[in-house]
Amino acid sequence: MTFTPFDRPVRAAFVGLGRIYDLNVCGYLANPDVEVVALVDPSEERRTQRRADWPEAQVFASAAELAASGLAVDAVEALLPAPLHVKGVDELLGYGWHVNLQKPMCNDLAGAQRMIDAAVEHDRVLRVMENYLFYEPLRRLKATVDAGELGEVSGYHLKMVGSGNGGWDVPWSSFEWQFQQMRNGRGIMVFDDGWHKLSTALWLFGPVREVRAWIGVTEMGPGVAIDAPSTIVWEHANGIRGVWDITLAPDLYLRSDYYTNDERWEITGTKGFARVNRCTARGIQQPSLEVYADGEMRSFHALDDDWASSFRDSGRHWLGWLRTGDGPLLWCAEEATAVLRFALAAYASNDHGGIGVDPSSIDAT
Ligand SMILES: NC(=O)c1ccc[n+]([C@@H]2O[C@H](COP(=O)([O-])OP(=O)(O)OC[C@H]3O[C@@H](n4cnc5c(N)ncnc54)[C@H](O)[C@@H]3O)[C@@H](O)[C@H]2O)c1
Repeated sequence: MTFTPFDRPVRAAFVGLGRIYDLNVCGYLANPDVEVVALVDPSEERRTQRRADWPEAQVFASAAELAASGLAVDAVEALLPAPLHVKGVDELLGYGWHVNLQKPMCNDLAGAQRMIDAAVEHDRVLRVMENYLFYEPLRRLKATVDAGELGEVSGYHLKMVGSGNGGWDVPWSSFEWQFQQMRNGRGIMVFDDGWHKLSTALWLFGPVREVRAWIGVTEMGPGVAIDAPSTIVWEHANGIRGVWDITLAPDLYLRSDYYTNDERWEITGTKGFARVNRCTARGIQQPSLEVYADGEMRSFHALDDDWASSFRDSGRHWLGWLRTGDGPLLWCAEEATAVLRFALAAYASNDHGGIGVDPSSIDAT
């Protein structure tokens, strides 16, 4: 790819102005690297609502209308419903725009390949943003491990509890495409939100060589089956093992400014452990990172542990990258495909009674 960094602010468009726009916009506000020139959504209500943030921007009901308008755009923030990602990204890259896409990248390897091919064909950058890699407590967790403060890593544990009580409002239209994903075997716990957990595993400890999964199902109503309780274990190529338990607690009240998702990461080393106590919601309201080693517990009380900050920093990273080309994209399309393979290996394992599956053995059929 022949990418040349922009020597002026990036002209950007938001495509999709729904729930997660509220956080993605954080990277764009008061950012001299960008000029928001267009807002796109078929919903008039959303266009009217978001227009207040960007009075100078033009609004459109579709990306095709924006492209036909002749307005110059360099890059788009693609905040589309997940089932539209493949077709949508293909279209956006085809207009000659760089794309910052939301997770999950797509549901299968054929879709991922189609996106990568489109990026190559149109000589544009496709990033699949991963805001968790910008969450300061997780960054400090990684730095603690990488500095050897825990000794050699012995193993680690991720925990995720989904609750339906508390947090911000999620519009019914967002649930509708999530239900569609569930019916297509891509559940909200393992695949949608779980995408982030698998991402952090790859980011912390590198490629995975074997995955074993036991994915459960809880019927919440007609056509609504949540993919929990679930347990997924894996071994990285470096021998480190991870285990992730996913539990449903529908009536558990969870204080949250965002989604009601109680999350933890705990890494054990030969001489200590470190734990991130929360992320999206305010489950354990203690220091967001605790590190125990050599008989002493260190508690981190002053980290920027608001989940929204991870979106802000991920967005700034992307726009900064477009201005400089420096550093990793976090994630590039190929790295995001590795996350997809990880998830697909979990499904393949579950389908075969929990046998070990190598993510690299998953093929595109
Ligand atoms: N990074 C995270 O932690 C995180 C959290 C939540 C959602 N997401 C992801 O963000 C994406 C959007 O999720 P959401 O919760 O905002 O969904 P949403 O349903 O609230 O919003 C989607 C918006 O896209 C609009 N839309 C539909 N078709 C369109 C089209 N063809 N062109 C332009 N706009 C179109 C809809 O009208 C809606 O306003 C999904 O991929 C989701 O998985 C990521």
